Amino acid sequence: MSIGIWEQTGNNAPHALAVLLAGGPEQVTNIFKPHSTPGESIYQVSLLTLAICGAIFLVVAGLLIYTIIRFRNRPNDERVEPPQVYGSNQIELAWTVLPILVVFVLILVTARTISDVQNATHPPDSLNVTVVGHQWWWEIKYPGLGFVTANELHVPVSDSAKPRPALLKLQSADVAHSYWVPQLGGKVDLIPNRDNHMWFDPRQTGVYLGNCAEYCGTQHARMLIRVIVDQQDDFDRWVAEQQKPAVDDAQATAGRKVFFSTACVNCHTIRGTSARGAFGPDLTHLMSRETLGSGAVKNTPELLRAWVNDPQKLKLGCRMPDMQLSPQELDQIVDYLLTLK
Ligand code: CUA
Repeated sequence: MSIGIWEQTGNNAPHALAVLLAGGPEQVTNIFKPHSTPGESIYQVSLLTLAICGAIFLVVAGLLIYTIIRFRNRPNDERVEPPQVYGSNQIELAWTVLPILVVFVLILVTARTISDVQNATHPPDSLNVTVVGHQWWWEIKYPGLGFVTANELHVPVSDSAKPRPALLKLQSADVAHSYWVPQLGGKVDLIPNRDNHMWFDPRQTGVYLGNCAEYCGTQHARMLIRVIVDQQDDFDRWVAEQQKPAVDDAQATAGRKVFFSTACVNCHTIRGTSARGAFGPDLTHLMSRETLGSGAVKNTPELLRAWVNDPQKLKLGCRMPDMQLSPQELDQIVDYLLTLK
């Protein structure tokens, strides 16, 4: 059986249009619709840069078109070399000084924006999150709240009257990655043996999409980011659910047994059980997530089965191997995973 990945996740166009018209966060990334303070600052600089570059383009293209038309080849032109001009202080000064001024304006405005974003002060009740980049998924830790999840970052919406920004500490377990959610902030790299930081204060609830923005190997393109911005109440409910250990459903005892007798436990953690692996995503509340394989496919029972059967079919090169399970074992493991709500 082959699974059409892009049939499952690709065609969001009608929905994207509906969201676009409603003005909310979108199912496609859009640098021109910021929904946070850092996103807004970057958007303002990009408008200024575009305006300056547009003006330069109009002047250069205008002069070029004027010259092409005004001095075009005419039938009764004399076939002699035109007058040659050597050196003009005014012209040379103009094309040296003007670009320097333009570059200076851009440097100063950009530097001010970067320092405004980096040096912003945050309220003491800001949400602290640590994001660790792995080939090719995101580990998401909430140190103050005491749990770990993967790939889908939940944060509360931030009120302008009483802001509650999310402060991200960015780390990498292997190579350089880059965390980029265009509507919320600029790109920041995740580098091994180094802590980088970014923050955002999302002003509107919804799902914000992003992706790894630093080439990090085979599945760089399917290292997708979802930031889910909830109302404070919904966020608190989500946190309370995530803090619980995994459900121990008597219905899934057979699958549980298979899971704990295979190598699954070496890579995955399921809180409340003996599975404490750290190479792969925490599966304690797997079914609370919308996607599998860091956004590779939607998290449906059929795709979960296909994923466990052979992850290499859905995300070629990913670190999870085909476990060579029998159809019966596969069904049992999937039944168990489906209980991890
Ligand atoms: Cu991680 Cu590109």
